[in-house]
Amino acid sequence: MRISCTVNGEPQQADDVWEGESLLYLLRERLGFPGSKNACEQGECGSCTVYLDGVLACACLIAAGQAQGRDVRTVEGLADGDGLAAIQQAFLDAGAVQCGFCTPGLLVAAHDLIARHAVPADAEIREALAGNLCRCTGYEKILEGVRLAAARRTAQSGSPS
Ligand code: FES
Ligand code: FES
Repeated sequence: MRISCTVNGEPQQADDVWEGESLLYLLRERLGFPGSKNACEQGECGSCTVYLDGVLACACLIAAGQAQGRDVRTVEGLADGDGLAAIQQAFLDAGAVQCGFCTPGLLVAAHDLIARHAVPADAEIREALAGNLCRCTGYEKILEGVRLAAARRTAQSGSPS
């Protein structure tokens, strides 16, 4: 079947998509968006987290056909032109990236969190990222990355609005 959808603001189309194919496979193998990672393919690790119509979803659990006519935003779509998104820069500066396998999903989930909560409490950060597993960083640097992004945004805006 043919799938047409929008990915990171651009129209995309793929032909000969199998009914059992996942959105993650569609993105990575057919449409050229390898940022979302395939670590478990069972909805357990969060490495494949994307926005689907603005709502977080595990792309490995979504059938490719479900993306028909919808809007997908991947980790590649977080960046602002050639510059990194604030959350991406904060992860780098906090040392929250080691092997990087979990990083795309964590970035999308953290991006969503700080869009909803300008200054998230630690409990809110932990809850928002609870579905994203990391085997490298021990999570403290990841939490620090989210705190840093929130603090920088507050400093820029002059208030924690
Ligand atoms: S690859 Fe989708 S949740 Fe792990
Ligand atoms: S940085 Fe390696 S799994 Fe998270």
